[in-house]
Amino acid sequence: MRVIHRIAELRQALAGSSATAFVPTMGNLHAGHLALIERARKAGGPVVASIFVNRLQFAPHEDFDTYPRTLERDCELLRKVGCDFVFAPNEAELYPQRQVCTVHPPADLADILEGHFRPGFFIGVCTVVLKLFNCVQPRYAIFGKKDYQQLLVVRQMVRQLALPIEVIGAETARADDGLALSSRNGYLDEVQRAEAVYLSRELRAIDSAVRQGRSDWASLESAAMDALSARGWRPDYVAIRRRIDLGEPAAGDAVVVVAAARLGATRLIDNLELSAVS
Ligand code: PAJ
Repeated sequence: MRVIHRIAELRQALAGSSATAFVPTMGNLHAGHLALIERARKAGGPVVASIFVNRLQFAPHEDFDTYPRTLERDCELLRKVGCDFVFAPNEAELYPQRQVCTVHPPADLADILEGHFRPGFFIGVCTVVLKLFNCVQPRYAIFGKKDYQQLLVVRQMVRQLALPIEVIGAETARADDGLALSSRNGYLDEVQRAEAVYLSRELRAIDSAVRQGRSDWASLESAAMDALSARGWRPDYVAIRRRIDLGEPAAGDAVVVVAAARLGATRLIDNLELSAVS
């Protein structure tokens, strides 16, 4: 496995590869990220992971400065799962000047839910993802369903801009108790870690209610928000939406429940594709 810091060197290393599979990350890797690498390996070509904590997608009050940077450990993990190249540019390499050309995804998908609570977040994500795509020029790009809205936003960008890339969505990797793996779980103390499981439990409770025939989305959503608040969380949203575009579900749509909530200073997100259609 080669660790590369420069765009020019990356281009040279990948020249002539036609089936490159790419997994963009911000590092501090866990089993969820590594599962994306395993998925990328199935494509049969070279596998590239990027590690770059992207300042553009953090608001000034967010955790850009404290976001864990663990490059050496990450590279060891990537080597073990058979990654071929790690692209780890520093900020001067990826953003040599202030990034003034940016990608603005459409408001109806990108300014709702995560985009509502983190204004500009998906501009930062799309801009860096497009730039990384241009560096790596992959045939396949693998994203986790853990960040459900991000996956949809990236898919739409790829379609709208006719990028020759197949976006593959991979299932969310979870801890044994159901908590979705996340780099931000490391911010939780022991008590919070035990409590954190309730976010996925509320989503599962909605899933079983829906399986039993409930379709009163608004009351299911507010019951879950209330239950989390009662346990000391500060939920931003729990929302049952159409899977394809996170719009309000109409009859017959396949649906997903997406949620974000703060536990202490840590903001966690999760989602679950519901078994029933609306
Ligand atoms: P990061 O949070 O590091 O996540 C990198 C990729 O890993 C994303 O596609 C994310 O959905 C996936 N992932 C995270 N936790 C997962 C889990 N528990 N199971 C499955 N996949 C999981 O998402 C980003 O970085 C950034 O926004 C990025 C796309 C790299 C742009 O900066």
